[in-house]
Amino acid sequence: MSHTTRFVSLNRHIPTGRIEPDHFTIQTKNLPNLTNGQLLLRPIVFSLDATLRGQLTGQEGYFLPQIPLGEAITGIAVSEVVESRHPNLQPGDRVLSQAEWADLSVWPPRDSWLDPTPLDPRIDKPSHALGVFGLLGGLTAHTGIIEAGQVRAGETVVVSAAAGNVGSLAGQIARIRGARVIGLAGSQQKRALLTERLGFDAALDYRAPDLAEQLRAFAPAGPDLYFDAVGGEVSQTVMGIMRRPARVIVCGLISTYDHDTAWTIDIRPIYGNGLTLQGFTPLQFPDALPAALDDLVDWVRDGALIPLETERRGLDALPGAISGLFRGENIGKMIVTVP
Ligand SMILES: NC(=O)c1ccc[n+]([C@@H]2O[C@H](COP(=O)([O-])OP(=O)(O)OC[C@H]3O[C@@H](n4cnc5c(N)ncnc54)[C@H](OP(=O)(O)O)[C@@H]3O)[C@@H](O)[C@H]2O)c1
Repeated sequence: MSHTTRFVSLNRHIPTGRIEPDHFTIQTKNLPNLTNGQLLLRPIVFSLDATLRGQLTGQEGYFLPQIPLGEAITGIAVSEVVESRHPNLQPGDRVLSQAEWADLSVWPPRDSWLDPTPLDPRIDKPSHALGVFGLLGGLTAHTGIIEAGQVRAGETVVVSAAAGNVGSLAGQIARIRGARVIGLAGSQQKRALLTERLGFDAALDYRAPDLAEQLRAFAPAGPDLYFDAVGGEVSQTVMGIMRRPARVIVCGLISTYDHDTAWTIDIRPIYGNGLTLQGFTPLQFPDALPAALDDLVDWVRDGALIPLETERRGLDALPGAISGLFRGENIGKMIVTVP
């Protein structure tokens, strides 16, 4: 059966500067009939991910392909299968896959890199497949803190973007493992939530001019581990007051994504504080992922791990939601649901 769909497209590249909602346009197109192996999906929850930023610059060399102007944005979503010519999936199944930012999306989309998988039966809430149980959410936080970070009980851990998706989970996981956790976040509302609801030991404003002194007040000997999602000046400050030796786990560099030049590190704290600096993705730890998911499921069921979400509704909300992610408008996982 032929279908028409609305979709969100990029109307100009954004090599530098903030993503604005008016960089996007909602258009309509006809979808082709399915061929063998294809699916017609109705996305029900879209994942808003910082990784999209590098696909909007129009400059090659990013690890994911650039989004062509006028074509649909693609991202991770949970969708319902509407029609199937796929051997293993039936209409009505709920799948985690790439999907176009559209009311209806043919899988595989352009530049497909992720096969559709049915939702794990232990996941009651579809959005949790993107956040707390998602590869770019809980599994990043778990492998970052436990596998890459090798956190130990009694250590002091600093987490940046601590009220965001990965950061809020990373900090909680470090606490579950017996560490003392200091979160960095951009608003009083976020900082109160970290200490009052998520059990962080302290929460600080990373824009404070005396951030180094405030960190020293909570950790006089310096943090043992810095789980970093932002990079730039904030990270330079944290690295300058770390214990010797200590570890920096580079999860992301969101403070640099709007710039066309990379963050240039002053290497002196790495030498002076004997720091080990390690970038990572959860895919570096494939053997650890099943047990990590088991842990996350158990912790959420027991109430030890609290997943937070910021929900916007409807296809029209997608441009504002991705822009908002870079303005700190989210607490926990930024999602857009479609009724
Ligand atoms: N290594 C991996 O495999 C992997 C996987 C997933 C994500 N990541 C990375 O992890 C980071 C967080 O991603 P996420 O999806 O969990 O997003 P998120 O933390 O939920 O949202 C981004 C948050 O970052 C903060 N932020 C935005 N711009 C900033 C800036 N210029 N300086 C400092 N903070 C800023 C904002 O919080 P405030 O209000 O506190 O400023 C915002 O809420 C990103 O760098 C992303 O690329 C890496």
